[in-house]
Amino acid sequence: MGGRLEGKVAMVTGAGQGIGRGIALSLAQEGAHVVVNDIVWDTAQATAEEVKRLGRQSLAVQADVSQSTQVSELVDRASEEFDAVHILINNAGIAVPAFITELSEETWDRTLRINLKSMFLCSKAVAPLMMEQGYGKIVNLSSKSGKKGGLWLTAYCASKFGVIGFTQSLALDLAPYGINVNAICPGTVYTPLWDNVLKDAYARKLNIDPEEVRDYYSSKIPLGREVTMQEIGNVVVFLCSDESSYMTGQAINITGGQEMT
Ligand SMILES: NC(=O)c1ccc[n+]([C@@H]2O[C@H](COP(=O)([O-])OP(=O)(O)OC[C@H]3O[C@@H](n4cnc5c(N)ncnc54)[C@H](O)[C@@H]3O)[C@@H](O)[C@H]2O)c1
Repeated sequence: MGGRLEGKVAMVTGAGQGIGRGIALSLAQEGAHVVVNDIVWDTAQATAEEVKRLGRQSLAVQADVSQSTQVSELVDRASEEFDAVHILINNAGIAVPAFITELSEETWDRTLRINLKSMFLCSKAVAPLMMEQGYGKIVNLSSKSGKKGGLWLTAYCASKFGVIGFTQSLALDLAPYGINVNAICPGTVYTPLWDNVLKDAYARKLNIDPEEVRDYYSSKIPLGREVTMQEIGNVVVFLCSDESSYMTGQAINITGGQEMT
């Protein structure tokens, strides 16, 4: 059951559902043991069970990764259980679309705290372990909205542009220690985030029916179809493997060409 990440220990934030869950399973398929974090306990545990069914070890840890004390506990639990963390996937995030005059200060702060500050806290807590090992891979979830502004997305885009600046600077800090830091920029991915939040908000901003939103966005993808979770996992596995050993500070689009339209 060998894989490109055999024996490595990965920590994935926000891995109870959606992209984080998909990445956790892709890493496990390649041999990694996975610390599954989410703010929601039930979903974290469910993903951890799926990782175990793939034959890997897994630990579910409920934590709000935007809170420093909870991040310290998360990393302590991981290092007690596995003695090492080789891979960190900073995935947890939210999107709350709103026209600028309707965007509350609380939503702005929460978006920046969960999407950006969490990456600082988790990376800062894991970096000493990786530096000691002289080895580490960090992958941060930016977005197509990390490179191009979007209607009703001031807070979200500010956070995701910030992720790219954070990624480049962290890559420079950690390069001397053999640690690669990269970001991925997915386009539209139909996760629970879409079903629960974005579908209705985008219907309002586009003035179309919620049921038409998915087709509207899919029709803008040059490759002509939606991305699969496996395709996102493939890029993340590559960035976590030694095949990408000479890449650091990059922000890789996974959009089916959508960012050019
Ligand atoms: N879905 C897309 O189209 C898309 C595109 C580009 C980038 N992204 C990014 O990918 C990441 C995952 O998005 P998704 O679509 O899977 O979203 P999702 O809402 O389906 O899943 C996000 C998960 O993060 C968890 N979470 C939220 N706040 C948390 C916190 N403070 N601490 C710990 N866990 C927390 C949630 O409980 C949830 O399980 C986000 O950073 C998002 O911005 C998504």
